[in-house]
Amino acid sequence: MQSSLRVILGERSYDLFFGSGILAGLRDEIAALRAAGRRVALVTDENLARDQAGVLALLAGGAEALPVLVLPAGEGTKRLAELGRVWDFLATNRLDRSSVLVALGGGVIGDLAGFAAASYLRGIPFIQVPTTLLAMVDSSVGGKTGINLEAGKNLVGAFHQPHAVHIDTALLATLPPREFAAGMAEVIKYGLLADAELFARLERAPLTLASDDLAAVVRRCCALKAAVVEADERETAKEGGRALLNLGHTFGHAIEQVTGYGTYLHGEAVAVGLVAAARLSEKLGYIGAAEVARVEAVVAAHGLPVRLREALPLGPLTAAMARDKKVRAGGLRFVVLRTLGESATQGGIDPALAEAAFREVGAV
Ligand code: GLY
Repeated sequence: MQSSLRVILGERSYDLFFGSGILAGLRDEIAALRAAGRRVALVTDENLARDQAGVLALLAGGAEALPVLVLPAGEGTKRLAELGRVWDFLATNRLDRSSVLVALGGGVIGDLAGFAAASYLRGIPFIQVPTTLLAMVDSSVGGKTGINLEAGKNLVGAFHQPHAVHIDTALLATLPPREFAAGMAEVIKYGLLADAELFARLERAPLTLASDDLAAVVRRCCALKAAVVEADERETAKEGGRALLNLGHTFGHAIEQVTGYGTYLHGEAVAVGLVAAARLSEKLGYIGAAEVARVEAVVAAHGLPVRLREALPLGPLTAAMARDKKVRAGGLRFVVLRTLGESATQGGIDPALAEAAFREVGAV
């Protein structure tokens, strides 16, 4: 069964479609676009071309096959050279302003193809078909697109909302379990930051690929993200807004940076970051030890770390937090838990408290 949800952003509004085995709807949409004389092309990666060959054939195969660009899988693809390949692919296949680019993949393909669509001919429509849990609940919705530079992640990009997002949870069947768990860190984050009922659902039993309510939970996360994006499309809110989505991320980004990206998956670093954020919130007097224990229990139940796997030195971790672009001048700024299910941004936080929270998850 398919359900949908509209992200309301004026003329940039779009629909998210949810369900298991729902991509026949997108195939029909592509056929209708082409029947109306619009060109459609698709970008994906090598893993998906191998593991989801049936889906690729459904969307792009047939007598009048779509042009398809298959890029290497992995974060290394989110760079200028590959962006150039996508631009050339679009130009070679004579896509024009009315054409549509379909991004079939995880966050790397979505962000890269989205930025190619944002910049080619100064912007063409694109459709997101996220294939990882992380992309389904986070990166495919919201319009941030971009690439990495040697100097750092996501340093070049654009806000470019998709034309539609088709979220088919059947695609998760070929996702490695470690990647599914990593995506769960973001799901837990949504419960903690704004949805006590979702958090309680995750406490009752871990969400798995076999859960009957998998698509419903993904939809709930997207509804929370959509509401945040609708209120703060370009991350300009002084308090709250999109910054709330960074719950656990200031700690998490520091872990990723200090370990050189790759040791921890993003979601694994965020999982430790969520526990650290809960501990910081405890130190600020918002929640008690019992709530911190509940956060740890849910994180652990989903196969995620609650502490650093190996001790990391506090100095580089705090330096990375201070550099984090989400930390504004005038003291450290964090997303804190007022309670489980309600969060707020708070500036001017004593660095000693953040360091103490980091120590409690294994920094030395
Ligand atoms: N594309 C992800 C976001 O806008 O947050």
